[in-house]
Amino acid sequence: MGGKVYIVGAGPGDPSLLTIRALELISEADLILADDLIGEEIKKVIPEDKLMDVGKKTSGLAQEEINRLIVDLAREKKVVRLKGGDPFLFGRGGEEIAYLKKNGVKFEVIPGITSAIAVPEIAGIPVTDRNITSTFTVITGHEKDENSRINWKALSELGGTIVILMGVENLKRNMDKLRKNGMDPKTSVSIIEKGVTGSGRVLHGDISNIAEIAREEDLSPPAVIVIGEVTRFPLYEEEEIKI
Ligand SMILES: C[S@@+](CC[C@H](N)C(=O)[O-])C[C@H]1O[C@@H](n2cnc3c(N)ncnc32)[C@H](O)[C@@H]1O
Repeated sequence: MGGKVYIVGAGPGDPSLLTIRALELISEADLILADDLIGEEIKKVIPEDKLMDVGKKTSGLAQEEINRLIVDLAREKKVVRLKGGDPFLFGRGGEEIAYLKKNGVKFEVIPGITSAIAVPEIAGIPVTDRNITSTFTVITGHEKDENSRINWKALSELGGTIVILMGVENLKRNMDKLRKNGMDPKTSVSIIEKGVTGSGRVLHGDISNIAEIAREEDLSPPAVIVIGEVTRFPLYEEEEIKI
């Protein structure tokens, strides 16, 4: 059983959105190393004696320390490394695997449902729509200005849906970048806060006023920001939505 690490996507936070394979591995593993973002409801389906919380906020561990811990534990144990959403979308799954390979540890990756699609979806927002847009681009909102690898000009002119993860802190800065690079100030935006928790909510606006709305409404992470025409036509009525 031992000697292997399973890098598993936990989905956006509702246990019913875990994959069958994720559930199987949670029950078979010796230890489950969980990230902050997997959410309290998912933690409840993990036997307490197997759960090790290595989220950076709760454990204070740096990524390098987490990498070393996983390698040490995996020498004898079957380890599940449980990550929010999909492990390869802003999840540092690749970095952890590089470390495992360097140390000769076997691994397998189990995809998860990503918040980038599922969170807008439960609010009735499809990231693509045949009649509206044929592209969607997912970016991090968290990049520092000085080493940004995002081409804001190209992004502003692209015309499809833009999904921003980790975008609450820099919301105003990023909306300003889109406007300054030529995006129509009236471009519609929805922000889905704490999706699939049962206590989430949606804020609507456009790229000129959404930062102010978010400030007034005291928006806090985690939230998915969706920009583009698809946000004008949510598929559910507001009173139908349970986010
Ligand atoms: C470090 S990224 C990880 C993304 C993850 N790997 C995925 O595929 O969903 C964390 C960001 O995902 C988004 N996120 C994840 N779960 C969410 C949820 N339940 N509701 C709203 N946003 C969520 C937020 O933008 C958050 O800042």
